Amino acid sequence: MAPVKVTKICCIGAGYVGGPTCAVIALKCPDITVTIVDLNKARVDAWNSEDFDLPIYEPGLEDVVRQCRGRNLFFSTDVDKGILEADLIFVSVNTPTKKSGVGAGFAADLNYVELATRRIAAVATSSKIVVEKSTVPCRTAESMRTILEANSKPGCRFDILSNPEFLAEGTAITDLFSPDRVLIGSLQTKEGKDACQSLTAVYGHWVPTERILNVGLWSSELSKLAANAMLAQRISSINALSAICEATGANIDEVANAVGKDSRVGSKFLRASVGFGGSCFQKDILNLVYLSESLHLPEVAAYWRQVVEMNEYQKRRFSKRVVDTLFNTITGKKIAVLGFAFKADTGDTRESAAITLIKNFQAERALVTIYDPQVLHTQIWSDLMEASPGVPLETIKRQVSIANSALEACRDAEAIVIATEWKEFRTIDWADVYTRMTKPAFVFDGRLLVDAEKLREIGFKVTVIGRGERL
Ligand code: NAI
Repeated sequence: MAPVKVTKICCIGAGYVGGPTCAVIALKCPDITVTIVDLNKARVDAWNSEDFDLPIYEPGLEDVVRQCRGRNLFFSTDVDKGILEADLIFVSVNTPTKKSGVGAGFAADLNYVELATRRIAAVATSSKIVVEKSTVPCRTAESMRTILEANSKPGCRFDILSNPEFLAEGTAITDLFSPDRVLIGSLQTKEGKDACQSLTAVYGHWVPTERILNVGLWSSELSKLAANAMLAQRISSINALSAICEATGANIDEVANAVGKDSRVGSKFLRASVGFGGSCFQKDILNLVYLSESLHLPEVAAYWRQVVEMNEYQKRRFSKRVVDTLFNTITGKKIAVLGFAFKADTGDTRESAAITLIKNFQAERALVTIYDPQVLHTQIWSDLMEASPGVPLETIKRQVSIANSALEACRDAEAIVIATEWKEFRTIDWADVYTRMTKPAFVFDGRLLVDAEKLREIGFKVTVIGRGERL
């Protein structure tokens, strides 16, 4: 049999990955009907909203959805219909870190992947290519295959592919339009290779052939964990050096620039910060740690675990620097936190460094006002409640408030903490901000965002990650 020509795609999971990825497939492949299904009705309703008030903030996404929705792109809660009609199904559900049971705190929770896989087996009445798009531990495809084969109807065959997603939130659409590579893993059997060709043909609508890498299933699964671990490792490495800079009077920007000019190292991901966040880096490294331990490789596990530990240290260190600088106490002092998303150009707050910083400030009994241009207030409250289990929202609200602008957040503050690198924080009228603050007015730049010298000229006392100057 020749490779199947894909004409109907179903994507299970309308989140940060499934939504943008399959919207771009619909845009680039007008001959393919793409249906994105999710059990979360509120999310699906938002994708279908008349005024395109999408559930995810991502530059360029609305434009893509406007072009295809209702044409060859559909969002639905009818998971079964999506499965029934498709010849290729992306499984793009969440795979968070397990909260309980064996491997709690490290291993990936594959419950959502398993449920979606079982649903495919229960519903499908014809053969399907099932594509693992979620980030999963090595050999998950094997488990999916076992479930599918054990539950399939006569005449249905399932070919499993691994096609991890490398998009970064905030630049998802440009990443998808022009990916560095598309990785497709398959069994190296005739059927596996045919399925791989079918998916290659989908991406072939816009991705140059030389950027589509066909590899074995396990290499594909491991490559995604490896890529995230190596990216996070660069951040932890530069952050470790930022601590040395602060202690010696060196400047991390200068060090990173000098190191990054070496073409063997390269300049990307060498920006010191208050720490990395997001739903993937920590989760995927912990996954790698768990995998290494399961494979009886304790030294390998310890090596990768240190990348996460350095990230925690950086957040603690930054919080302590704020307290130390404000004369060793922030009790009752008003601190404006600018930015709550884990990075700029996204409304995603998962594992955001801001959450840890604010929790530390709460523990010191400071009064915190938060401003973020994209994150919904309800999301901020729910994250702060999750960070302080058992503490009622009313109690949190005695210490924390949310402002609708940076200027409002900074009014009467003694210190400003920049937690997310939103561009708009660079262009605030800092002279105006200064007049509204209690003096001395402090700025703590956790993202190397502002021009510290200019702010000092205005009168601010400025502390920057990885700079050795003492006040
Ligand atoms: P998400 O949590 O935003 O979206 C997952 C969606 O799947 C949710 O809307 C949920 O309701 C839905 N879902 C779960 N089980 C379902 C089921 N059985 N049937 C129908 N819908 C179901 O997660 P996100 O961020 O999109 O991540 C998905 C996967 O992609 C994860 O494995 C993640 O590690 C990986 N990934 C995430 C990236 C990111 O930047 N967020 C980048 C690359 C990979």
